This record gives sequence, structure tokens and C-alpha cells, in this order.
Amino acid sequence: MSQAAMTLSERADELEEQMMHELNEKIATKSVLFGMADGKVEIQNGNDLLAKNPGKYFLMGADKRLPAMPDRPTLIDFFKLRFASTAHLLQSAKHAMRNGLSEKTILACLLHDIGVVSFIRCDHGYWGAQMIEPYVDEEVSWAIRMHQCLRFFPDESVNYKYPDQYIKLFGPDYEPEPYIQEEYKRARGHKWYMTSRMITVNDIYSFDPNAKVELEEFTDIIGRNFRQPKEGLGWDNTPASHMWRTLNWPTRFL
Ligand SMILES: [Fe+2]
Ligand SMILES: [Fe+2]
Repeated sequence: MSQAAMTLSERADELEEQMMHELNEKIATKSVLFGMADGKVEIQNGNDLLAKNPGKYFLMGADKRLPAMPDRPTLIDFFKLRFASTAHLLQSAKHAMRNGLSEKTILACLLHDIGVVSFIRCDHGYWGAQMIEPYVDEEVSWAIRMHQCLRFFPDESVNYKYPDQYIKLFGPDYEPEPYIQEEYKRARGHKWYMTSRMITVNDIYSFDPNAKVELEEFTDIIGRNFRQPKEGLGWDNTPASHMWRTLNWPTRFL
């Protein structure tokens, strides 16, 4: 295609692609999911990309456009280098701490939305729970998984109302889908219901731009309640390791 025939956004895409390849000296590719966010179901053809980049190979490791990760990354490294925004998590955990909740509950609040800030919004409670499951008490991952559904249901016993923020975000007519309703019923009767409920109670829906909470305030709680693998997250051969590796190397070809 000639330059003149290209639209502005096509030209921007081409420039971006060129920059991506030059920085890495290898060919970085986008996974299908990344394109779906732009409304396209398509896959980049490997052979076409090789033909366009003579002498180059596909990226199979770190993407140099992203902050470099240490060889044995810890949860704190992921907080600092891969989580796009941590204010909401820190403020929620601080709230739980001020309310005198247990360390497990504070940790659950600190980690409850890591799915959103590092990975994907859809079903973020389930993704987040899965990421941490091998490293925390089962109560913590269960609570994070279930906050996905509990957020939508009030509990007057702890003064939790349906969030105004959700009316703003989803409209007044939004109703949780059947799978959320079913999950809520299961959670309601569970022995750890209140732990998960406390995530929703301490979830800060409206951000205080002046609140400044440091991750260091939670170093000890993380140390006592998150079993950091000595090999580093991603290199430790658990059912969640591949998720941490993918966050570390999100543009690895395969
Ligand atoms: Fe959440
Ligand atoms: Fe949240």
C-alpha cells in the first residue's frame, strides 16, 4: 500500500510496529486477545512477519519496551513493574487495616483486583484468585474469587449497599448475569463468606486523590502471608506459574 493510500491510523500502526521491532531486535507480536479489544478477531501471520523483517526472529523472552524484571521476581516486583495502577489496592488494604481486620483479610484486600490492574477486567476475581492460589492461605484466594459476585449484592448486616458507582458505570438497569447470581448463592452459605464480604466493604469505590499509601506499609504482611517462591514468581512450577511468566513476557511468540 502506498503511503498516500494509508489512513492516519494505519500509518500510526506501521510506525508502532516498526518501533516495536527495532527496540527488541526481534519481532514482537500481539496475541489475538489484544486485537479483540479493538474489535478484531485476527491473528498476525508468522511467515508474513518474517518476510517483512528479513534476518530477524520472533521474540521469545523479555520485551525491552517494558520495565526490566529481575531474574527472580517477587510479588513486590510485580506491584512495581507490571501492575498498571496500585492506588486502589493500597487504599483498600489500608482501610482494612484501620478497621482492625486480620492479616489474611488485609492481604485479600491488597490483592483483590490484581487481575484488573495487570491482566484483564472480565472475571477479574477469578483470574486474580488463580494467580495467587499456590502462595496464600485458601481463605485468601477464595475471598478474592468470590468478591467477583459479592460486590453486586447488598448485606445490611455490615452496612454494604449496592455501589452507586455501579449505577454510574453500568446503568440503573444492569442485573448480574445468572452465573453471578448462582455464585452468590454458593458464597452466601460458605464458612468464609465474611472474609470475602470484607473485601467489598473495604473496596474503595471512589478514589481519594490525596490519600498516599505506600506498598512498604504491607511488606511484613506480605512476608508473613504470601509464600514467595525462591525461584521467583513464574519459575517455580506451580499451576499459576505460567500466568506470572505471561505478565513478565506478554509478547513472547509462543
Ligand atoms: Fe474487584
Ligand atoms: Fe476493588
